[in-house]
Amino acid sequence: MVTVSPLEGTGAEVTGVDIANLSEDELAIVKQAFANHGVIFFRDQNLSEDAHIAFARKFSTINLNRFFARHPDYPEIALVVKEPTDDFNIGGAWHADHSYDAEPALGSILVARQLPPTGGDTLFASMNAAYEALPTQLRDLVDTHSALHSGKHIFARDGAYERIPDFKGRIGNAEAGDELVDTVHPMVIKHPLSGKPCLFVNPGFTIGIDGMDDEEAKLMLLALYEHAGQPQFTCRFTWEPGSVAFWDNRAVWHLAENDYAGHRRVMHRITVDGCSLEGMNSTIASRSATV
Ligand SMILES: [Fe+2]
Repeated sequence: MVTVSPLEGTGAEVTGVDIANLSEDELAIVKQAFANHGVIFFRDQNLSEDAHIAFARKFSTINLNRFFARHPDYPEIALVVKEPTDDFNIGGAWHADHSYDAEPALGSILVARQLPPTGGDTLFASMNAAYEALPTQLRDLVDTHSALHSGKHIFARDGAYERIPDFKGRIGNAEAGDELVDTVHPMVIKHPLSGKPCLFVNPGFTIGIDGMDDEEAKLMLLALYEHAGQPQFTCRFTWEPGSVAFWDNRAVWHLAENDYAGHRRVMHRITVDGCSLEGMNSTIASRSATV
């Protein structure tokens, strides 16, 4: 029997299910758990690459990653790898994948393939919980503004990944990074699956607030990040062989711990397509579409 057990902070663990062989009823429960909790975890799965792809397709079309190294036999699968000789990991600061796209990715399904003996946890933070607990001043700000998102400072030729030699072979295609077009989204969205208000800014890719100069926007964004990263909105997932995490980029932030120096960690990631995002306030949504 499928059981959905909410975790402290955010997310839920789904047990009693083999995600390579889901019945229609089980899939409906998994989809509901995903909408309700923003990130769901499975243990003890035996998921082949083909089954990983088939599971992803039950939620949306697969987004072929432009920047990550791809699995040699399955281009749908992006490789998230850290070698024993690498200092830096991928995704080591709070972010939401693809928020810089006009239609940000729905989510990512990450499968553990090779784990370090200890460490390498992933943290998740609920952007609904963060929004609900915002102090009034910040809540007024996000309710009435849109924010600018960009991936260029990360993926372009002069971006963070290109500047650090450690990422060679792991992250590339910086020419496509140069072509990225910055995009505007409401600072609080009506979540497309749950309908809940979710804060939609993140330290990785949000670079400004409309109607504010850079300095003021930076201060406000820092205040929002300090608030949203508080432990009461977060959970920590410790990977084991057979673990799978499926998170919604519109509902949670994530952060990969980099605390396993000298060891190899290999994860397979599939990201699935999302949709354009509406604000909780239709005025903001229509304004954001024209900025
Ligand atoms: Fe990520």
